Order: sequence, then C-alpha cells, then structure tokens
Amino acid sequence: MKNWLQKESGNAMKKTRINRLSPSILAADFNILGEQIAAVKEGGAEFLHFDVMDGLFVPSISFGIPVLESIRKKTDLFLDVHLMIQEPVRYVQAFADAGADMINVHYEACEDIAATLAAIRKTGKKAGITIKPKTPVSLLAEWVEQVDLILLMSVEPGFGGQKFIPETMGRLKELRAMIDKSAKKPLLEVDGGITLQNVGDVLSAGADTIVAGSAVFRGNVTANVKAFQQILNQRR
Ligand code: DX5
Ligand code: ZN
Repeated sequence: MKNWLQKESGNAMKKTRINRLSPSILAADFNILGEQIAAVKEGGAEFLHFDVMDGLFVPSISFGIPVLESIRKKTDLFLDVHLMIQEPVRYVQAFADAGADMINVHYEACEDIAATLAAIRKTGKKAGITIKPKTPVSLLAEWVEQVDLILLMSVEPGFGGQKFIPETMGRLKELRAMIDKSAKKPLLEVDGGITLQNVGDVLSAGADTIVAGSAVFRGNVTANVKAFQQILNQRR
C-alpha cells in the first residue's frame, strides 16, 4: 500500500518506496539563505527541513515564524517543520499560517499528544510525530495510524553536526515493521548525523525520508544534493 505522498505524486505503478532528501537549513549560510535554498532545489530535493528550537526543550535557539514566512514566499519546496519546542500546541496555528506543509512535534514535549495532533490536522497540514534517541519506539504503536510521518532522531536534538547514533539502525527496523503493518503507512524520516557514507545503510534499515544538514550545506550544495539524490534514487 502506498503512503499519502506517493498517492499524490501519481506513482501508482511503483511498488517500491520513494526516498526523499530533506536538507536541514540549520547548517545553511544565513547570509545567502535564498541562494542556498535555490541550490537545494536545483539539486533535485523536494523537501526542506526547518528546525525550530526554543532554548527550553533543547538548549539552543534557532529561528522561527518570520523566517518561515519569508522562505514560503520564495519556494515551492515541501516545508517540513521540526518543532523542538515545549508544548508545541501553542504554536501550531502560527506555523501553519506561516506556510509549513508538515508540522512535526516531539512526543516528549507534549502534555497531550492527541490534542496536539488534532490541532495540526485542524489546520489542514500534514502531521508528524518525533522521538528522541532514548524514547522507546513501542510508544508510537498507538499513534502510527494518526500521523503522516514518523521522525526518528539519530542524535540528541539541539545541534547540527553531531555523530549518528548506531543504535538508530535497530530502532529504524522496528519502526519500519510497525509502519508496514499499518493501514496509514506514514513516511519514516531520520534526522541527525547522516552523510553520503552512511545514508545507504539508513535506507536499508527502513528510512524513506532523510534529513541532512552539514552533509548538504558544507561545500557545493547542489553537488551534495545530487550525490544524495543518486543514492536515494537507486533504492527506489
Ligand atoms: C538537530 C536537528 C537536525 C540537524 C541535522 O537537532 O534536528 O535537523 O540540523 O544536522 P546534521 O545533518 O548536521 O546532523
Ligand atoms: Zn531536525
């Protein structure tokens, strides 16, 4: 059975998964953010990952609503918003209005995850649920039919440029099995420490949506995206 993006993209004949890259602008050069987003698009990416940090749920503060609004005006990339903020339900409407296509909330940050997901659905945007590296995967069994995407952190959230946690591989396999058994079949996204060297293994373990910050924005952005796309497309 196909997931929602595969249905929308009209790939009815394809039996295998579609893999996508979601470059994280946390690692971009903000002096030339517009150019860097154009370079990502030129490389063939379809998603753009937007990391919001509040200095409370995670130690850092990144960027927020005005930056998202500004990007939305200039790009048709699918804006994949990762909210690393405490009680994100307070800001769901604001991020939807600012132009998010997908709103990902941390399971650990929500007092009432059902109400938070309902608030996202009410805006008409796609809903994602995210877990940190130490949160048991089994907790998601209850929510797999209610989300469009599951985002598995492969580093502790809060900073770009960290090293991929190897235990993620087993967790990915567990989630892939859970998703394959579901009727909804949400996308399975992985975030943190992904490089051209380990992305093949991450895909083999079951991911279909790959976040990469440093590995995309260090060096030639378009060339980096193309190199990722080549590996992603081989696995279609
Ligand atoms: C970490 C963020 C990631 C980060 C990934 O809290 O959620 O999206 O930008 O960066 P890299 O690919 O450099 O690990
Ligand atoms: Zn992220």
